[in-house]
Amino acid sequence: MTEASPLQVVDLEIDYGKVPAVRGVSFSLRSGEITTIIGSNGAGKSTIMKAIAGLLTPTSGEIQFHGNSIVGLTPDEIVVRGLSLVPEGRRLFASMTVRENLEIGAYRRQNVQAVKRDLGRVLEYFPAIEAKLGERAGNLSGGQQQMVAVARALMSSPKLLMLDEPTIGLAPANVEIISDIITAISKSGVDVLLVEQNAGMALDISNYAFILERGKIVIEGSSESLVSSDEVRRAYLGA
Ligand SMILES: Nc1ncnc2c1ncn2[C@@H]1O[C@H](COP(=O)(O)OP(=O)(O)OP(=O)(O)O)[C@@H](O)[C@H]1O
Ligand SMILES: [Mg+2]
Repeated sequence: MTEASPLQVVDLEIDYGKVPAVRGVSFSLRSGEITTIIGSNGAGKSTIMKAIAGLLTPTSGEIQFHGNSIVGLTPDEIVVRGLSLVPEGRRLFASMTVRENLEIGAYRRQNVQAVKRDLGRVLEYFPAIEAKLGERAGNLSGGQQQMVAVARALMSSPKLLMLDEPTIGLAPANVEIISDIITAISKSGVDVLLVEQNAGMALDISNYAFILERGKIVIEGSSESLVSSDEVRRAYLGA
């Protein structure tokens, strides 16, 4: 028997009222890889991520996590199964401390020792925020807040980490830090689904890519093959 894909999405359709946002999207991830969905403004990337995370209900279609349907589960139930989302715009609790934000990421977990160990492990990725544990999250720079958002998601000890535009609005140095961390997370054995408008960065660190336009996948392939495609270079890499 072959192992089920970490995540399989089949014929996903999502409408906002009568307006279709995602129109028949199918894709699956391979374990051990970074998979990316690239698309411009309004393509439907966040809508797909929200549906996978249980934050909105698809009109139709199927979403399977390691072979089991997760459609209709609550966001909490989905986190407990091992799927965690770093949402667009970070969504930190600005007036709470960095430590409190990180603890919220683990609130579903019972094993206090394991949570403590994971806090130490998660902070190894982010030396810059370890010194800021007692500060209010809202006082951190944009780059540091993004690091807290990624760290918070890791505190749920996910098998699959989904990131919705983690580098938008960041200075180039921070983009590099975040993309290095995503690579390190992948190497540690966590599957990664990365959504980006920054096609250059996303193709650089991913294994496989889907390009989404107006709610549909229009191109897919190994990230390497997409980087060398003239069509992709012209339309998405400004080359
Ligand atoms: N709550 C909503 N109500 C109505 N329409 C929405 C809502 N959220 C998104 N849309 C529409 O659905 C489409 C897809 O939006 P979505 O946010 O998924 O795009 P995106 O690819 O994440 O874009 P961006 O890169 O700007 O974040 C867009 O046309 C958008 O205007
Ligand atoms: Mg979005």
